[in-house]
Amino acid sequence: MARNKIDIDEVLESEFKLEYLMRILAYVKPFKKTIVLIVILLMLTGIANIVNPEIVKITIDKFIPNKRIDFILLAAFALTATTLLTSLITKYKITAMNNVGQSAIAALRKDVFSHLQTLPFSYFDNRPHGKILVRVVHYVNSISDLLSNGLVNIITDLFNVLVLVAVMLAVNWRLALVAMSPFPVFVVIIVLMKTSLHRAWQNYSAKNSNLTAYIQESISGMKVTQAYSRENCNQGIFHDMIMDASEKWMKAQKIAQAIGPMVDLASIAATLLLYIYGIRNFDNGITIGMLTQFTIYVAMFWNPVVNLSNQYNALTTASAYMESIFDLLDEKPNVKDADDAVDMPVINGDIEFRNVCFAYEPKQMILNNVNFNVKQGETIALVGPTGAGKTTIINLLSRFYNLTDGTIFIDGIDISKVTLKSLRRQMGVMLQDTFIFSGTIADNIRYSKLDATEQEIIDAAKTVCADEFIQSMENGYDTQVNERGSRLSAGQRQLISFARALLADPKILILDEATSSIDTETEMALQKGLDRLLSGRTSFVIAHRLSTIKNADRIMYIDKGRIIESGSHDELMKKQGAYYRLYTAQYAFLDE
Ligand SMILES: Nc1ncnc2c1ncn2[C@@H]1O[C@H](COP(=O)(O)OP(=O)(O)OP(=O)(O)O)[C@@H](O)[C@H]1O
Ligand SMILES: [Mg+2]
Repeated sequence: MARNKIDIDEVLESEFKLEYLMRILAYVKPFKKTIVLIVILLMLTGIANIVNPEIVKITIDKFIPNKRIDFILLAAFALTATTLLTSLITKYKITAMNNVGQSAIAALRKDVFSHLQTLPFSYFDNRPHGKILVRVVHYVNSISDLLSNGLVNIITDLFNVLVLVAVMLAVNWRLALVAMSPFPVFVVIIVLMKTSLHRAWQNYSAKNSNLTAYIQESISGMKVTQAYSRENCNQGIFHDMIMDASEKWMKAQKIAQAIGPMVDLASIAATLLLYIYGIRNFDNGITIGMLTQFTIYVAMFWNPVVNLSNQYNALTTASAYMESIFDLLDEKPNVKDADDAVDMPVINGDIEFRNVCFAYEPKQMILNNVNFNVKQGETIALVGPTGAGKTTIINLLSRFYNLTDGTIFIDGIDISKVTLKSLRRQMGVMLQDTFIFSGTIADNIRYSKLDATEQEIIDAAKTVCADEFIQSMENGYDTQVNERGSRLSAGQRQLISFARALLADPKILILDEATSSIDTETEMALQKGLDRLLSGRTSFVIAHRLSTIKNADRIMYIDKGRIIESGSHDELMKKQGAYYRLYTAQYAFLDE
């Protein structure tokens, strides 16, 4: 099956990097006090639990032979108290650390989202949106466990192991060495397995990311899928992706599952060795109580050791996620304010393109040396074959991309020298692919000017002839529409985004294919409103409708990234060039 961008695994770095950990720790820093308190409490319970086997030993060796029921009861009380305390502290730890983890995750996600909003069009052009989604949602979730429990557990487990080893050595260093004798073998096996386990989890996570991206794309493209009856084929692709992911999961599980039995084996071996050594050395001061104590120590020893190896594993996996997240956070918004950017003063609307060259991809020039001047208040129609570069020209005017070469001036000011916000705030842009957000129709119009009054919204809608159809909907302006405006017709969507562009009351108005889906009758009515609206504004209209083009002050014919003709309708008709040919081929029958 053809591999598309979605089916290409993201490369997840395999090694653990301290740098990422330090960066992520910044997010838990505000909770330093809580974390320190919890670590101290856990250390105390750790110590209490290590003391317990000592009590067991004394009970077996002293209290039981001497029939001291009072001391036995005291010992039982001590053991119960530590168990109770441990469970209370554990409960507190879980609540508090979950809180820390969630807050840290919320802060991280906020950073990722706000950074995402600063990234230029080119970032989104170049990758499946599902894969961006995976980072913001899934990857961030995946490190929440590390932030909530992982770090605290690593510190306390490490502490417990060290204290335990010290205590065992202090109680009887020979028994201690016997108890820990399987440890080196265990370490060797774990280290050998670690790399393959880590790789296995990464493989799984890459496949999972592909899957999420594919689902996201499939939902967006569902109508096309059904229109071409591609369901079975897509089902097949999806099936393969699921099988891929589940195979990778099984593989990882298989390796992970091997660790448990190995620990049991190591633990049994250690206990066995303890007993054998103990029996042979009863004369050298080793007692039944001491053997029981060490049996408990052996069980206590392997727990944190396994935990630590799991934590290490989680840390390396999280490291891969962190890399993806930081990779996004470090993505430089290459379209950004210059260091010395100033606010654009109130625009009059004179525009100049001087030697503008532009390429989306290096070396593939889309615009070649484009030069033109537009006077304040002029309406310019851009016409030309598909893919000629019309949308590109107006994208550059809003500075959605950086120029490869040349300069664009508005009122004589180089637009790369002013802040993006002050520039875009004064432009009304209706993009070729109109986008409707989920919310009410009024919300969608208000998108360009949050403080617009209801009357302003209705006025804007009236001007673009959208008022009538909006009023006829069940809740009028308060009718809910979904993302992409699926319950609206294409023309209605255009009218709404048209109203949105007008509401901003911009000095420069850009309408890309604004009228292509609007019927002739509506368009004729709209034309009147448009005329009123375009007056006093500099406007660029990319339209296929003749009326819009003919009414323009100037028509620019774009072909292969160059302006090859420029002039009024009459002038260009007289010239009998490209525009004349386009006109006679497409519009002549509409004339008169
Ligand atoms: N995001 C992008 N990344 C790379 N190349 C692009 C991108 N957008 C457009 N192009 C290329 O740039 C050229 C000009 O595209 P543009 O969208 O400006 O055409 P257009 O004149 O608006 O066409 P249409 O009338 O079909 O809307 C096309 O060849 C297209 O393949
Ligand atoms: Mg276009």
